[in-house]
Amino acid sequence: MGTLAMFFVCLLSLSGARASSNIGVNYGQLGNNLPSPYRSIELLTTMNAGRVKLYDSNPEILRLLSTSKIQVSIMIQNHEIAGIASNQSIADEWVRNNVLSYYPETKIRYLLVGNEVLSYNSEQGHQMWHDLVPAMRSIKRSLKAQDIHNIKIGTPLAMDVLQSTFPPSNGTFRSDIIDTVIAPMLEFLDRTNSFFFIDAYPYFPWSQDPGNISLDFALFRGTSTIRDPGSGLTYTNLLDQMLDSLIFAMSKLGFSNIQLAIAETGWPNSGDIEEHGANIFNAATYNRNLINRMTTNPPLGTPARPRVSIPTFIFSLFNENQKTGPGTERHWGLLHPDGTPIYEIDLTGKKPLTDFASLPAPKNNVPYRGKVWCMAAKDANEMELAAALNYACNQGNVSCDALAPGRECYAPVSVADHASYVFSSYWAKFRNEGGTCHFNGLAEQSTTDPSHGSCRYPEVSI
Ligand SMILES: *[C@@H]1O[C@H](CO)[C@@H](O)[C@H](O)[C@H]1NC(C)=O
Ligand SMILES: *[C@@H]1O[C@H](CO)[C@@H](O)[C@H](O)[C@H]1NC(C)=O
Ligand SMILES: *[C@@H]1O[C@H](CO)[C@@H](O)[C@H](O)[C@H]1NC(C)=O
Ligand SMILES: *[C@@H]1O[C@H](CO)[C@@H](O)[C@H](O)[C@H]1NC(C)=O
Repeated sequence: MGTLAMFFVCLLSLSGARASSNIGVNYGQLGNNLPSPYRSIELLTTMNAGRVKLYDSNPEILRLLSTSKIQVSIMIQNHEIAGIASNQSIADEWVRNNVLSYYPETKIRYLLVGNEVLSYNSEQGHQMWHDLVPAMRSIKRSLKAQDIHNIKIGTPLAMDVLQSTFPPSNGTFRSDIIDTVIAPMLEFLDRTNSFFFIDAYPYFPWSQDPGNISLDFALFRGTSTIRDPGSGLTYTNLLDQMLDSLIFAMSKLGFSNIQLAIAETGWPNSGDIEEHGANIFNAATYNRNLINRMTTNPPLGTPARPRVSIPTFIFSLFNENQKTGPGTERHWGLLHPDGTPIYEIDLTGKKPLTDFASLPAPKNNVPYRGKVWCMAAKDANEMELAAALNYACNQGNVSCDALAPGRECYAPVSVADHASYVFSSYWAKFRNEGGTCHFNGLAEQSTTDPSHGSCRYPEVSI
């Protein structure tokens, strides 16, 4: 660890209250530059995280957590669901290997079956939909047989399980899952006194409709309220609206008492140029305000269900450089991969963090309109760039003719310049088919036209 990292960790530990927090953190590991599990748990402890949520049941992490007070959420992976649903001995074995080996020393409190299963709309996905609730029941039976009663079984779902969310009283589940999956799942959650785990990101509805939703409303900074004519309830922020749409959807099926837990929420601290609003200022604002709301005593709850506490897991511990998709995907972290904080945060909510002036001012809150090029990243490894360049040119997806000796883009003869030309060409050609400017982290976007002389770099207009 660098001196700077040490400095920040010391700052955190001095400032943090001793009590651990109700706030949990998602510990994703999709990065090739992340600290060891040992160091990561040290960081979670220093940050006073009350809970940690894993995306698997990693033996090393579960063993290391046995000496910690942190409560743990483990996950059955999507590909394991079918076996567990079909055969009770497979469920028993899963519980033996992944729970009994660590419990009770490791404070496993939540066991989540799959991740956003109902968002996979493929043939394989539909099989998982069918197996989801049977798998939850099998795992419950296995735990019961072992006399374990304080581990809640749930399944984290995305907001796309709702077909309408606005106004909240209009909240309704999707018709393709309501009878076959949702109804039996709610029956299970109700009977076992468990939680509906929801991944709720105000960032997405806001960024898709910034004309109708104010940024302040999404960041818990709204000064006006929005009234739901159906219920008469008034809303001061987007997260409450999203959570209440789920509460209303459940109530319509006769389940008015299932508790909510937020399996993931957060705000990206950076992203691609077209991803407006993804910046450190907004991420700090969202997460600080979220923590303040979720740690009050008594709890705030939501307009439809006031004074009810909502266990909340922030996504995520680290920026994860191996996540695919748009740039925001790799920038949800509270910490840099070296363990230093991206902005100051207090998970206990006890320390008022009101110094927003020291955060970098948000520069991208309104959508960018203009040209963008896809360039070799400044810190990209030259050998890897050369390999990517060769690969792209040999696949024949884009023309590299302009880079040949004597042609317009040959000079300057540098791997970075040639790779930038190819990345820009590729992205300009395939962006409409979902191509991104990422290239395994070798590329980054730029609004500066790199064209020179008669060498013109293809651009994307957004
Ligand atoms: C269930 O799984 C167990 C252990 O993996 C296996 O021995 C058994 O044959 C399976 N039973 C059925 C009906 O598939
Ligand atoms: C309620 O949701 C339905 C779709 O389920 C939609 O057609 C309708 O416009 C919504 N009502 C309001 C007031 O937005
Ligand atoms: C607001 O939402 C409506 C209905 O979805 C849409 O037609 C309209 O363009 C939006 N307004 C702005 C300013 O984005
Ligand atoms: C690039 O070319 C290869 C081989 O010709 C092909 O398999 C691949 O699908 C192409 N990629 C795109 C994005 O079109």
